Amino acid sequence: MSSVDMETIVSLCKRRGFIFQSSEIYGGAGGCWDYGPLGVELKRNVKEAWWKAMVHDRDDVVGIDASILMNPQVWVASRHVQQFSDPLVDCKACKNRFRADHVQGNRCPDCGGELTEPRMFNLMFKTFMGPVENDAAVVYLRPETAQGIFVNFQNVMSTSRRKLPLGIAQVGKSFRNEITTGNFIFRSREFEQMEMEYFVKPGTDDHWFQHWLEQRFNWYVKLGIKKDNLRLRPHEKEELAHYAKGCYDVEYLFPMGWSELEGIANRGSYDLEQHSKFSGKDLSVFEEETKERFVPYVIEPSAGVDRSVLAFLLDSYHEETVEKEKRVVLRLHPTLAPIKVAVLPLSRNEKLVPLATEVHASIRGCFMTQYDDSQSIGRRYRRQDEVGTPYCVTIDFQSLEDKQVTIRDRDSLHQIRIPIDVLRATLTAKLAGEAFDVLPPGGSLVSGGKS
Ligand code: GAP
Repeated sequence: MSSVDMETIVSLCKRRGFIFQSSEIYGGAGGCWDYGPLGVELKRNVKEAWWKAMVHDRDDVVGIDASILMNPQVWVASRHVQQFSDPLVDCKACKNRFRADHVQGNRCPDCGGELTEPRMFNLMFKTFMGPVENDAAVVYLRPETAQGIFVNFQNVMSTSRRKLPLGIAQVGKSFRNEITTGNFIFRSREFEQMEMEYFVKPGTDDHWFQHWLEQRFNWYVKLGIKKDNLRLRPHEKEELAHYAKGCYDVEYLFPMGWSELEGIANRGSYDLEQHSKFSGKDLSVFEEETKERFVPYVIEPSAGVDRSVLAFLLDSYHEETVEKEKRVVLRLHPTLAPIKVAVLPLSRNEKLVPLATEVHASIRGCFMTQYDDSQSIGRRYRRQDEVGTPYCVTIDFQSLEDKQVTIRDRDSLHQIRIPIDVLRATLTAKLAGEAFDVLPPGGSLVSGGKS
């Protein structure tokens, strides 16, 4: 299990400006969260890492960005209107509501009162399109991004002149009126998904299913999640959606136990068949080579952005004692770290400021940086450790003489001293994975205590 409890991460997120309760000054909005200055960087980095791995690094996947509000028939065809429901029970005494499958017996977990019989509660948020608020104007906030992909399948196939297998990827907000939210950003009512629908020829689906199971598991590992805290869990027969041929969850060992980070499903041809039926449009494809016409099968890796952010925060959290003081460090992968490099003049001395500003200006266009000159250098290092900044660059009085600066490594606490004119190239190499003690021309290892 991740070694840290949820309260510690929630408190770090608030203190350092990663994540706040939504509308906090009004007492919050149930199950909604706001990402602060560092949280938004981390979240963007997670989404960009996913987009790079799923779209930019591949020849067989393209992206789209569909609208959140769609024709309501989409949700009839997908059966969300009929079936996207959870069983709800009410406490007759305190009136609190629970998901029936989250409570044991028929007593309220809060006050012990008697619970009602379960009734089905549809999780889709409704609103109205246009000025008239009647049944004909009802539309839904999408509960998944996937349907925006299915309804654009034909558009993308014909305009991108692609052949199968073809993946269509999308990242965006989804909304579910969850009966019970909780565990911080794990289950919220407004969240983001990173979904990809991979369209294949029937018969090749088992091969691609295996391919995506491996790819998706390894994505988390490459970005630093410990393998021991990750597992692939096959769905039991009774968990499977009626159309799904198979489904695995990528699970992370969260503080509350193993829970879903991402689902990977073989959805067969169900979605395209349904949309064909309801729209009257033929969504089959014709394969020139074999002269065959068929409705593609779909393999769907569907990940949660917020759950990934939470897993990366939990997994990277580390406490240790350095020189008799507690050091909290987020050992985030450099790709994900909100700030890549902090520029820290030793003090606010007027002789140091021009050079420190110059050094900052020379690198800020390349990486997300932060210039910090307040408080002691030790406290500034600790602040950067706590938000996961991989490298701190310090400008001291000797820098004025020798035109060199010190780089400090977050994880080993080792320091190297290098000429300013190779700083940008050195940081670029380190952030791309070069070992910290590999020195550029003119560089040297700084000996001495850790700080
Ligand atoms: N298109 C398939 C689909 O939406 P899902 O298992 O319902 O499948 C996929 O959702 C992922 O979206 C989940 O693995 C999870 O990471 C994320 N997710 C779902 N509901 C969520 C919620 N209420 N809060 C945060 N993330 C959620």
